[in-house]
Amino acid sequence: MSSVAQVEKSNLIKALQTRQQQDGYISDEAIENIAEEFNLPLVDVEGVVSFYTQFKRVAPGKYQIMVCDGTACHIIGSTLILNWLTDALGIMDGETDEDGLFSLECVACLGCCSLAPVISVNGKIYGKLDRKKLLKIINSFKKKEAAGA
Ligand code: FES
Repeated sequence: MSSVAQVEKSNLIKALQTRQQQDGYISDEAIENIAEEFNLPLVDVEGVVSFYTQFKRVAPGKYQIMVCDGTACHIIGSTLILNWLTDALGIMDGETDEDGLFSLECVACLGCCSLAPVISVNGKIYGKLDRKKLLKIINSFKKKEAAGA
């Protein structure tokens, strides 16, 4: 069995990044596969995954909500946006709800600061948000799901 020091760490990270791109997160199965591929103990691969914040261990929801916490959004109210979403969805930053419908993640600048405060849902940007506008967006997804879309 090798150690992380013996294998090219950059190759290990690249394999993990590729797997995360495919699956949206790093599952237990992915860790087992990669440990086998690199001939490493599971605990070593788990250690690398938990060390780097870029790796997610929780499967994302069908609707992946990213709350911008860059400077412009933070000043205008990203904390409130996150609190309203937490209340509406019952999940915290970094979590996915029980139905696998919504996941919530705070991120750095989403690149459209003039629209602050901003969220993105599956890559689509929603800006100049207030509580009413935010809840309308969330409810539209909930209604869509209830209608079986
Ligand atoms: S700081 Fe939020 S989009 Fe730039």
